[in-house]
Amino acid sequence: MRVTDETTASDDQPVSNNMILFSFPGYESIARELRETVPVQVMRFAVDRYANKELHAKIEGTVSRAHCLILGTIAPPDESLLSILLLGETLKKEGADKITAVLPYLAYSRQDKDKPGESLGTAWVGALLKSSGIDQLLTVDVHSERGKQLFPIPLISLPTDGLFAEVIKKHGLVDATMVAPDNGAIGRCQAVMNAAGMPGAEIPYFEKRRTERGIVHSGPIGRVGAKVVIVDDMIDTGETLVSACEKLAAAGMRGIYILVTHGLFTGTAWMKLWSLGAKHIFCTDSVPLRSGIEGSNITSVSVAPLIAKGLLEETRRIAASAK
Ligand code: R5P
Repeated sequence: MRVTDETTASDDQPVSNNMILFSFPGYESIARELRETVPVQVMRFAVDRYANKELHAKIEGTVSRAHCLILGTIAPPDESLLSILLLGETLKKEGADKITAVLPYLAYSRQDKDKPGESLGTAWVGALLKSSGIDQLLTVDVHSERGKQLFPIPLISLPTDGLFAEVIKKHGLVDATMVAPDNGAIGRCQAVMNAAGMPGAEIPYFEKRRTERGIVHSGPIGRVGAKVVIVDDMIDTGETLVSACEKLAAAGMRGIYILVTHGLFTGTAWMKLWSLGAKHIFCTDSVPLRSGIEGSNITSVSVAPLIAKGLLEETRRIAASAK
């Protein structure tokens, strides 16, 4: 895989104090926004495989003393994670002053509980990034505070409440009832509700349990109107939302709008949502959507402006601390 751009950084450009972007495929629109709004140059690079399948990274310029941004994902296939680690290692070896991994979706973030005999994937990923020279992580709507604390390098998580508030206002959903699909989503729902100026105090929520037979929801606990907005950090298989919508549909709610930051859409179970009163799913482009997913009832909202703003703030912070 190779990235080219007319504003490519090269040997004859001074890179000290500059930000240089290394953008993996799938993140072109975020890269474009960054190029237009943040003082960043783009550098060509490749992560290819030798004939024996080993990965090999190569950059096409000088990164000495630069702040390098690696934009991409560590979500499966595993090659994504390895490519980012190998690129990070290469940039550090070549003298990069600072490396920020910009991973709009932090895969492995749900492995954030230390259960006996099970992997603690969030901490593991953090350790791998750190040991590969990556100094900090910029992500969007990280799964949990606990995950943040497990990370051995600074983790900046940009909230999506502002983006979702705009969606709610634009689509006339301010008068809907905000419902949390589980305990963990209550804080997220509250933030979106406040940002959108939705009336109401207590957020109705579900108690969620994972059993051998799948997800079991009890609730909703609290009063729910006919029109509902559900906010969560992600839709993966969709089982969480299907289970919650089954309860809502059984209670007569048929106008359900779903707002999730990360749209993984794994498998097909999530498609049951359409028969359970779901009208529309809004997600972001933190994960490149599988082709054919976006359509008349699934809309992707870009996190590019959010990330650009996050990086601009970071640049200003660094400039201020250098004075
Ligand atoms: C759980 O704590 C998360 O916030 C999501 O609700 C969940 O992981 C989504 O996964 P799925 O769509 O597979 O139920």
